[in-house]
Amino acid sequence: MVLKTEDRTINPTPDLSTPLASPEAQESVLKIWGQQSLSGHVSVNGAKNAALPILAGALLCSGECLLHNIPALVDVRRMGEVLAALGVQVKCGPHSVMVNARDLNESHAPYELVSQLRASFFVIGPILARLGVARVPLPGGCAIGARPVDLHVRGLQKMGAEVHIDHGIVHAQVRGRNRRLKGANIYLDYPSVGATETLLMAATLAEGETTIGNAAQEPEVVDLANFCRSMGARIYGAGTNTITIVGVSQLHSTEYAIIPDRVEAGTLLIAGAITRSAIQISPVMPEHLTAVIAKLREMGVQVTPEGDRGLRVAPGYDLQATDVETLPYPGFPTDMQAPMMALLTLAKGDSVITETVFENRMRHVAELNRLGADIRAKGNHAIVRGVPFLSGAPVLATDLRASAALVLAGLAAEGVTTIRGLYHLDRGYAHLDQKLQNLGARIQRTTIPADPTVAIEEPAPLPSVPA
Ligand code: EPZ
Repeated sequence: MVLKTEDRTINPTPDLSTPLASPEAQESVLKIWGQQSLSGHVSVNGAKNAALPILAGALLCSGECLLHNIPALVDVRRMGEVLAALGVQVKCGPHSVMVNARDLNESHAPYELVSQLRASFFVIGPILARLGVARVPLPGGCAIGARPVDLHVRGLQKMGAEVHIDHGIVHAQVRGRNRRLKGANIYLDYPSVGATETLLMAATLAEGETTIGNAAQEPEVVDLANFCRSMGARIYGAGTNTITIVGVSQLHSTEYAIIPDRVEAGTLLIAGAITRSAIQISPVMPEHLTAVIAKLREMGVQVTPEGDRGLRVAPGYDLQATDVETLPYPGFPTDMQAPMMALLTLAKGDSVITETVFENRMRHVAELNRLGADIRAKGNHAIVRGVPFLSGAPVLATDLRASAALVLAGLAAEGVTTIRGLYHLDRGYAHLDQKLQNLGARIQRTTIPADPTVAIEEPAPLPSVPA
């Protein structure tokens, strides 16, 4: 039984099916003393959403791949664990990873690891391409949506894989004498980033030519294609909506540096804008942020090139409201929707935000409203009425980009903001609090007694990836 009061639902009886934090448990939180102006330069890490598929893509190689500019993220460590569980040699450096998949022999990715990292489903294409058989647990949904993989599966079936799902495991195998995938003409109902990446990887070792129509055009897809080409893959048209791959028999060793993280870069630009500060960020590829920069400029924020691979953000006269609709690339990126909403809460006027990519990516609205924002969300639309100021409060992060939005709002709020659920932040941003502190923010990672009435989402600490 749940009580409805105002627009929030309060459940009087906590769900006892999930473990509650024991009274003596501690949890890590971020404390932010807001309204500090920032200054200086901040570095941008390698892209999480390029690193994850490229690590999976290293399974295609019959030799050693040395990857550079790899971000130190929880998700990257988890992907390393998955590769190691497949019998692959993985060695991690500070910002590099060496993968040697010569002896890839295990076709089954373990549930206990895949269940902790949705992106590990990316291994299905390379395993199937190398071994002709793959068993990968179905990735669950997450806070932002159901995250189905039907487009991945249907594409693999068109390439000759027999696929069935049994007890939550995707079983795929290629029959025939050489158990090799066949090239196919595939059209994606939706320009899915993950499906494009899975099928592009599978096609590199298939027999014949594959065409992917309505393909995703994200920079991370292009980075994956460039990585595969550096191993000798024959891929044409990455970055357009039609990608052609001519299969080869084997891929050779390579050394490759991944692109900078455009979502971290956009988040840092907003950190400057929301505190009305002038800061510089690099390295960044401005062409990967065209939609975000256009929106910031519409709001009156100054964004200008700085050096050969940098940007400078500085405040304009004041922040003007604007409308945002998330779309597949080159449209406004869904991963920047929550950070941009944080900025729009302080703009003059009303902004309408429409989320078209994921079905449940408005969970940060309630927490931003706790900080004094005036946002009304209905389905995938949110009306953000600008307020003159935000005020600090305890808030709870619900997903990765929502946690970034709360950090940004806390930087601007009067007083102290305490953010719980840091597990989400650490999945996608390496040392964001440290970076902001170095720019002058008063932000501190500390521990507080865990609230015994709320289940803690913190996962068990990972065993370290063998060096
Ligand atoms: C990638 O997720 C990114 N993750 C996401 O970043 C990003 O938001 C998303 O692309 C869109 O840009 C990684 O690269 C690891 P999709 P992905 O397949 O591949 C539907 C972050 O915060 N769909 O393009 O899962 C799906 O439900 C994360 O860094 C199907 O219906 O995104 C969604 O509504 C979040 N069937 C839409 O397509 C499928 O088989 C877009 O999903 C596949 C997807």
